[in-house]
Order: sequence, then structure tokens, then C-alpha cells
Amino acid sequence: MVIQQGLTANLTFVCAPHKKLRSLSNRRPRSGICHLQSRSQHTATVSYQLYMRSAGSSPSIDERVLDALSGRSVVVTGGSGLIGRALVEQLQECNSEVVLLSRQPNRARDMFSPRTGAMPRALVYDAEPDEPVSDSVFEAIGQADAIINLAGEPVEDGRWTASRKQILYNSRVNGTRKLVDAVRKHRSNAVLINASAVGYYGPSASKVFTEKCKAGSDYLATIAMNWEQAALANTNQSRTTVFRFGVVLGNGGGALPKMSTAFRAFLGGPPGGGEQWFSWVHIEDVVRLLLHATVDTKWNGVYNATAPQPVRLAEFCQELGKALGRPSWLPVPKQAIQALLGNEAAQLILAGQQVLPKRTRENGFVFKYKDVATALQQLTGSRSGELLEMRRDCR
Ligand SMILES: NC(=O)c1ccc[n+]([C@@H]2O[C@H](COP(=O)([O-])OP(=O)(O)OC[C@H]3O[C@@H](n4cnc5c(N)ncnc54)[C@H](OP(=O)(O)O)[C@@H]3O)[C@@H](O)[C@H]2O)c1
Repeated sequence: MVIQQGLTANLTFVCAPHKKLRSLSNRRPRSGICHLQSRSQHTATVSYQLYMRSAGSSPSIDERVLDALSGRSVVVTGGSGLIGRALVEQLQECNSEVVLLSRQPNRARDMFSPRTGAMPRALVYDAEPDEPVSDSVFEAIGQADAIINLAGEPVEDGRWTASRKQILYNSRVNGTRKLVDAVRKHRSNAVLINASAVGYYGPSASKVFTEKCKAGSDYLATIAMNWEQAALANTNQSRTTVFRFGVVLGNGGGALPKMSTAFRAFLGGPPGGGEQWFSWVHIEDVVRLLLHATVDTKWNGVYNATAPQPVRLAEFCQELGKALGRPSWLPVPKQAIQALLGNEAAQLILAGQQVLPKRTRENGFVFKYKDVATALQQLTGSRSGELLEMRRDCR
């Protein structure tokens, strides 16, 4: 049955087979899906949630993809991070069996609620080279249908001292090597989906980067290149997909909450002049990409996970100011950022790159958030959400 936008409906199930209803109720909510509340022999009380899209409807996750995720075993590293939390919640809703690999498994597990779906299992895992992979982690990898590798020491949290550089490297490159090694030893055919970053291309004020472009030569580019090589070594074993993420915009961490705090305090403005490119992506599109790549075998190799319309940082700040109802008037001088982070780490903010998701779009992926104004309005709540949830009881 198709329920059109603006229409409410009372659904009555008479003599509906309870088995069928229970199976519907076990699935995550989506258009017209019924949730079983109580039953008698011949009637059932149901509530339904109706998800509707606003005019000009935008794509959501393919229903086929959501269905295919049910019951799949997915091992996730970095599941406690910005991307990981959003991903795992969606996997919970899809009834996937999630295993979190974390340095602090109890903390990671406590981030999730049974209300969202089946609780993930969590196991101790550390990317450091001298930390062996435990038997339980090894076993979980052997049983997995997919491994989504997101772990990585945050690059933006402070100066890049020699010891911190080692941690940045180990947490990505060694961690990935360990996973790939375990997949190989198991002769597993689990798909490996690995994070990378647009830092791979190195900074440029004028170039336009697509997936075919070569790696840059600065420190971040070198890490990203080694990280990807470690992941792509798995290609002979099983399907391997690498996503080069742009700056992920989400409310659960990363750049946006930090910038929003400054803007809310009337201290917002473009750092270092604002001419640098800012290749961003909405967290929802990141999760959609990861889920599509988990189930769809056409995702192979390297893809840019960036919105199709990158902007200069000054434009981003203007739009963030508009979305928050605050001015973008206080540029942060380059010298202040360099003094705070040191010259090398400051480049993260002071230099950017214009990255286009060419292969990603050629693979048929349609970004839900293409322009930064819409993405920021949605994330800051300055536009009513696209989800209209309705519950109706009917008998
Ligand atoms: N967010 C972005 O804008 C962005 C952009 C480009 C690339 N990426 C990459 O995408 C991945 C996920 O991003 P995110 O924003 O979700 O990251 P995040 O919020 O910083 O979380 C990363 C996760 O990695 C694990 N981790 C942190 N330090 C570690 C270390 N020293 N050794 C081993 N594990 C460590 C943590 O898990 P536990 O504490 O549970 O072990 C943490 O939850 C990261 O690798 C990041 O570099 C992100």
C-alpha cells in the first residue's frame, strides 16, 4: 500500500497472521511499517510510523540495502566515534549483529541503547603493534560478513609531536594491517570497508581532485596513502572498499560542534582568511555510503566521500552563521592557529583541497545533502526535519 504525503491512515488487521505481524514489527521503522503492540486471536493493535519526505523528495537508504543488512554480522572498529556511533545505531535498527572492537569496550557498548535495536557486543582491541589480537577478536573477524574499519587517533586534537605522529600512524596503518592479517588467516570473504581521508591528496588552492588523482606528499597524505595500501592489500582476499572522507558534518563530534560553539558566542568567522577549500559531507550520507558498500558488491576500490559541492571555508562560515542566526565576522588569524597547533597540524585548518566524488556518483550514489546551506540548516535544526513521524492506534 502506498501512503501519500499528507495522508493519515487507519490500518486494521483482522485475522492477520500474527507471525507475519511479528516479523514486520521486528524490522526497523520505515514507510508504513507496522509495530505490533498487542494481539488477540483475531485482531491486532498496531501503531505505525510513517516516514515522509518533504517536497522535492531526497533519497534515503535503499530499502533493499536495509533488508539485506538484517542478521549480518558486522565488525566495527572506531564504533565509539562520530561516524561509528551513527553507523552502529543504523545497523542496530537493521537488526545486524554488531561487534565493536574498542580500546574501551564497556565504554563503547554503553554508548548504545537497546531501544535502538539489538545491543552490540564489544571486545578489546588495540591497534598498537605490540598488542596481540585476542582469540575472541580473531573469532569475530572469522565470523563476520563485513568489517568496517574506522579507528584512528584524532588528527585535530593538538600538536603533532613525534610521539603523537607515531600514534596517528599506528592507530590507522597498524590497526588496518592487523585486521587484514586476521581476514587472510581465516581465508574469510568478509568485505572490508576502510576509512581514509581527503588529506590523501595533500592541500591545494586550485586543483580539483577526483579518485584518480595521485597522493600528496605532506605528512597526512603519507599516512592516508599507507593506510589505504594496508587496506587494499586485502583485495586479493575479499572485496575491499576505501572511502576518503571529507570533513564530516554531524552533531555528535568533529568540526561542526566546535565551530558552532564559537558562532553561538558571537565569535564565529573563517579561520586563516577563508579562501581555502572545504570538502565536507553530511554524516547521514556517510552512513548511507557505508551501508550501501556493506551489501552491494559494486562498491570496490577507492571512493571520495565528499558532497558534490565543496565550498571555500569563508562560504561555509557564512552559511553556518546564517543557520545559527549569528554573524560570521571574526576571522581567526593564521598566526593564532599556528601558535595553538604548531605549523604542521595547523595546515589541517589553513589549507584544504577541492575534492569531487566522481567515482562515487558514477557508482549510482545520490547524495542526500548536496549543498552546504541545506546540510547546515538540517544539522542546526533551523529547518524542520524531513521526518514526519506519526503514530496511530487502530484496532
Ligand atoms: N570525522 C571526519 O571529519 C573525518 C574526516 C576524514 C577522515 N576521518 C577518519 O574516519 C575515521 C572515523 O572518523 P570519526 O570522526 O568517527 O573519528 P573519531 O570520532 O575521532 O573516532 C575514532 C575512533 O577511533 C578509535 N581511536 C581513537 N584513537 C585511537 C588510537 N590511538 N588507537 C586506536 N583506536 C583509536 C576510538 O575508538 P575506541 O576509543 O573505542 O577504541 C574512536 O572512537 C577516523 O579514522 C578518521 O581519521 C574522519
